[in-house]
Amino acid sequence: MARITASVYTSHVPAIGVALDQGKTHEPYWQPLFDGYEFAKNWMRQQQPDVVFLVYNDHATAFDLDFIPTFALGTAAEFAIADEGWGPRPVPKVIGHPQLAAHIAHSVIQQDFDLTLVNRLVVDHGLTVPLSLMFGQVSAWPCTVIPLAVNVVQYPIPSGQRCFQLGQAIRRAVESFDDNLNVQIWGTGGMSHQLQGARAGLINQPWDQRFLDRLISEPAQLATLPHIEYVREAGSEGIELVMWLIARGAMDDIAGGPTVTVRQRFYHVPASNTAVGHLILENS
Ligand code: DHB
Ligand code: FE
Repeated sequence: MARITASVYTSHVPAIGVALDQGKTHEPYWQPLFDGYEFAKNWMRQQQPDVVFLVYNDHATAFDLDFIPTFALGTAAEFAIADEGWGPRPVPKVIGHPQLAAHIAHSVIQQDFDLTLVNRLVVDHGLTVPLSLMFGQVSAWPCTVIPLAVNVVQYPIPSGQRCFQLGQAIRRAVESFDDNLNVQIWGTGGMSHQLQGARAGLINQPWDQRFLDRLISEPAQLATLPHIEYVREAGSEGIELVMWLIARGAMDDIAGGPTVTVRQRFYHVPASNTAVGHLILENS
């Protein structure tokens, strides 16, 4: 059967993609940030996942105000890199896993989550920057990817509780797929940042660190946090962090299994307007 072996969490700042694509990673501003992902790249080469189930948000790129799906599952065989205004990032196209995606669609919808199925989807920095951080600059991504785009841009957006429960449903779906696949689930976006209004530039380091602590050790309680607290404490775009609860909900310990192992924890400010957080949790 397929199995979720680990969950990975990372922020997705577009300027990180620019730094990579324009060869700026060794500049003093960026070096400390990229150093924090060296562990992940080595670890990933050992793990060799077959599939990454990648929870991310689209930034009015594939979807606009005409269509606002809450949870949109990418079921296609491949996903083109979006043009976000400066041409597509020079990264490989993303290869999907239509069979596992279709199985997850059946299973998760039967578990009463009304997913939107997307058979054609372009992917923006929300998905490609995490791939670049975890795999580095490669000519082809080393595994297939199933995108799950979550609406955290236009209210109403899903609650932390709903995200946490969806993660549990995804875990059951993956584990009922009849093929030996090493699957990882990634939660992306965050950490604290606000890009607009009077509080633009807001960063809340103590709150972010506490979020990381709680995501590791008391995720069920963390899932009950209301939206207003994310927005007040972590900024209007800090709400992207609810997506991390989907990945966390898919881990074994939530279903009564053994405690997860923290393989990596990293936190860095500044990166553009965003605090960058990164975690790797392994199932035993
Ligand atoms: C920035 C962060 C984001 O999450 C995003 O989607 C766009 C921009 C930033 O820090 O500039
Ligand atoms: Fe974002």
